[in-house]
Amino acid sequence: MKLATASQMKELDRQAIEERGIPSIDLMERAAEGVARAALDLLPQRPGRCRGAALCGAGNNGGDGIAAARLLFLKGLKIRAFLVGDYEKLTPDALEETRRLSECGVELERFDPADASQRAWVLGCDVVIDAVFGVGLSRPIAAGSPFAAAVDWMNESRAAVVAADIASGVAADTGDVLGRAVRADRTVTFTLPKIGQAVGEGAVLSGDVEVRDIGIPADLVRGLACRAQTVERDFVRTALPPRKIDGHKGTFGKVLIVGGAVGYTGAPWLTAAAAARSGCGLVFLGVPEAIWPVEAAKCVSAMPFPLPDKHGKLSPKAKEEILKRAAGCDAVALGPGLGRGDGVTELVLELLREIRQPVVLDADGINALAGHMDVLDARQDRVTVLTPHDGEFARIGGDLSAGDRLGAARAFTEAHGCVLVLKGHRTITAVPSGNALVNTTGNSGLAKGGSGDVLTGVIASLLAQGASPVQAAAGGVWLHGRAGDLAAERLTAYGMTPEDVVSALPAAIGEVQ
Ligand code: ACO
Repeated sequence: MKLATASQMKELDRQAIEERGIPSIDLMERAAEGVARAALDLLPQRPGRCRGAALCGAGNNGGDGIAAARLLFLKGLKIRAFLVGDYEKLTPDALEETRRLSECGVELERFDPADASQRAWVLGCDVVIDAVFGVGLSRPIAAGSPFAAAVDWMNESRAAVVAADIASGVAADTGDVLGRAVRADRTVTFTLPKIGQAVGEGAVLSGDVEVRDIGIPADLVRGLACRAQTVERDFVRTALPPRKIDGHKGTFGKVLIVGGAVGYTGAPWLTAAAAARSGCGLVFLGVPEAIWPVEAAKCVSAMPFPLPDKHGKLSPKAKEEILKRAAGCDAVALGPGLGRGDGVTELVLELLREIRQPVVLDADGINALAGHMDVLDARQDRVTVLTPHDGEFARIGGDLSAGDRLGAARAFTEAHGCVLVLKGHRTITAVPSGNALVNTTGNSGLAKGGSGDVLTGVIASLLAQGASPVQAAAGGVWLHGRAGDLAAERLTAYGMTPEDVVSALPAAIGEVQ
């Protein structure tokens, strides 16, 4: 699904209103219907027994909230609507909604942070509509302002909070929190989800996101070119190359995995197991000689082979053997459990310079790049997929300081011509064209050592089978997350391990095949 920016949404509204003649008040009414419906869904009992509040700004988002308050009142809810801001600033549509509310006998009250009875009402009611700011939020919510108090009250309230369009305080284009932000149970967003609901803190603060059609003509929405979207099952399906009925193990791609060190025997094994469970025909695993017996005993579906080592880590002397093996493979995964120092950096850089095959670079493979980004830049004629978490991303120059994960991922791939998989809640896959895909599968059970090694194996396996870099990366992230979800269903997020994620990969693949 496309993820829109604030300016794209404003332009869609403008086109619908000015070019297609749809009255803006009609859009507002339909938006309000969605918000009111969500509020009714979250009530603990019938509306007549419940209390609600709508906290509304003076902009059009406030108008949505004022209209929703009227609809909820008409359903029997005891509701109070508060204006957080100035009456004089109400937009024409918000003013019209204020009049309609008043006609029902409900007055829009001025929000007063010092009014204890208002506070008690908001904190004690069953449902609160957050309509202080929508996509028009343009600067941080100032501490000590009435807007800040409104946000704080909603977050302190025992009520279910329904945000209209976007939780107030969340930046629509980044998911960053501007000052402070509402923590919504549900967000009813209009026409398209916004980037800020899919990534960053906004992805958490939005609660469940429901996308509501408010009557913007479909052709306008279809024609909107978005540079960000969520990964969908149909896309993942394209990442799984069809399996030839008469294929043999050479048909389905060969993966070489290079990693491991004394103390890190599990990482390369997990990568190998994940690759084997994701469809490729052959998996080779090059590890330091010191740990080779361990891998040989563990690996059944992959073929481990020993490489020269130094102090338990791969030695630069391993280069020639790795290059020879890589030349016979379709994709290389470099990094799981490599460790740092003792010539590892030198080896990784040499391999990156010379390997022609697509490379998935993970963990200490990424760390080795720090300070040597010219080596990555020189691979722009070849496929490189980097899979850093935030710490590794920062080490190779990724800048997350602006609270804009998507923007930072894009800037990195545009600068270095690689595919970037920025891991975390809502992993982002960014490609050099500037497009980015946001993943929605996965759970906190994946926040465990070894999960990244599994992901690396899946991506390498898909690449070896012929998936494009973006299909392999974003599709691999989705499958990995979905396998994590299936593992959590069976074992809980507490109890599942990366090995369970490997075991669940076939079922995840089966869902999209
Ligand atoms: N502190 C104080 N004020 C702030 C802050 C801040 N941190 N950030 C922004 N503001 C102010 C802005 O300055 C602006 O006020 P101004 O116009 O006086 O300058 C106001 O907050 C904007 O607030 P929003 O309600 O978020 O923005 P907007 O009025 O653009 O409405 C919209 C957003 C269209 C309602 C969208 O979020 C939405 O809900 N869309 C659903 C469809 C809908 O209802 N459409 C209405 C049709 S009317 C039309 O589109 C013209």
